[in-house]
Amino acid sequence: MVQWSTSVRLLGGLLGLFLLMPVLMAPTPPSMCTPLKTINDSLSHRRRYMKHNFPVNYTIRIHREEVFKLSNISKMRLQMEELDELVLQRMWFLVNQGVLKKISRVLPERHPSRSYTAELEWRLRDAEGVFVELHPAEVFQRELPDAIQDIWDCLTEEPDRVPETSWRFASPKSLLDNFCHTMHCLFSECFEATETTDCEYKPRIHVTHSLATTLK
Ligand SMILES: *[C@@H]1O[C@H](CO)[C@@H](O)[C@H](O)[C@H]1NC(C)=O
Ligand SMILES: *[C@@H]1O[C@H](CO)[C@@H](O)[C@H](O)[C@H]1NC(C)=O
Ligand SMILES: *[C@@H]1O[C@H](CO)[C@@H](O)[C@H](O)[C@H]1NC(C)=O
Repeated sequence: MVQWSTSVRLLGGLLGLFLLMPVLMAPTPPSMCTPLKTINDSLSHRRRYMKHNFPVNYTIRIHREEVFKLSNISKMRLQMEELDELVLQRMWFLVNQGVLKKISRVLPERHPSRSYTAELEWRLRDAEGVFVELHPAEVFQRELPDAIQDIWDCLTEEPDRVPETSWRFASPKSLLDNFCHTMHCLFSECFEATETTDCEYKPRIHVTHSLATTLK
């Protein structure tokens, strides 16, 4: 009798754990880490390809919203309660695809940074493919919070419809620095703690806590 109830409890506990699984895995499934680490490897050469290969103080014209740094992430997390990490991750893909497209547009065919930029573009597309596959389709159809939707609309606006005042100038290197730092922050499970120190918010703590409570 005692044994029976123990196994029922054990079974219940396991079932609970399974039900909890999607929640636990929401931040970053491990299979996402492989393509992101590949991007991280490419980004380690960004000084050479995005600074040394360009004229001093060279800048390109980008959307204001394509400046997406750690400070933007902490601001958004602060201002929007219950902001889904997935929304920020999707924004990261969108922003950086736009940034890479704009960098590659200023590079002549034989420029030494051209193939580097192309490589980053397809690696980012690969990572996005994995990202999309890992999440149920309805996640991508969910309505975005208004403030995020506004940014989204700006990012996807036709370039010739963007008002003059919404353009910014930034160096390719600074844009790839943002690309790299925000990746470490939004996908912190894939990177060392030393790489994510400037990213204040640590979703992992909540996850471990809820798991500990359930297992008690
Ligand atoms: C990311 O790249 C940096 C070099 O820029 C390297 O030191 C670090 O170990 C890499 N992280 C991972 C998890 O591959
Ligand atoms: C580049 O920018 C720095 C800092 O703004 C400035 O001191 C320097 O003179 C600039 N160099 C050139 C070649 O424009
Ligand atoms: C990030 O913040 C800057 C201002 O610091 C702003 O111009 C930019 O649009 C923000 N980026 C996003 C994606 O909201």
